[in-house]
Amino acid sequence: MTTLWIIWGLAIALILTSGVVLLFGAPYIPTLKKQQATALDLLALKPGQVVYDLGCGDGRFLAAAARRGLRAVGYELNPFMALIAWISTRRYHRQVKVKWGNFWQADIGEADGIFVFLLDRFMPRLDKKIKAEAKAGIKLVSYAFKIPGKKPAATKSALFLYIY
Ligand SMILES: C[S@@+](CC[C@H](N)C(=O)[O-])C[C@H]1O[C@@H](n2cnc3c(N)ncnc32)[C@H](O)[C@@H]1O
Repeated sequence: MTTLWIIWGLAIALILTSGVVLLFGAPYIPTLKKQQATALDLLALKPGQVVYDLGCGDGRFLAAAARRGLRAVGYELNPFMALIAWISTRRYHRQVKVKWGNFWQADIGEADGIFVFLLDRFMPRLDKKIKAEAKAGIKLVSYAFKIPGKKPAATKSALFLYIY
């Protein structure tokens, strides 16, 4: 009986936290291995360079980036997903940092590249944040959603590369 209450409690907490996340960004929908690989190909960063995943979900993109020798930083608002991302990237702990927090408040100044899978309505704000805070020449790859009014430098399988 206690186990059932714990499961119910966790399920309700998960639903509530996912609802709160919707106010600030996209819901959790993971990318597939192929999409992660294409995103990393488009970013074409060198080993040791830094890639951010803004809204890192369960950390799968961070792990894929680490396997290519990159340093990776993920921001995740949902505490459950942040914990899963932290656990799932432990074997790459020298290269991967998972930060539980709102990426709109993230310092993106050290990023050489950024990966996002958000929603259409957040893209103008992301564009402004990158222009105001990121290094000149930073590369952004967005899955599924375009930056309005900005021409992608490359496009592959619904992944859009932008160079600032
Ligand atoms: C569509 S999922 C993408 C997950 C991951 N990037 C991937 O490729 O598998 C979007 C994630 O962003 C997180 N998120 C949404 N808004 C956020 C915010 N403002 N700050 C941090 N994380 C956020 C959600 O909780 C969700 O896990």
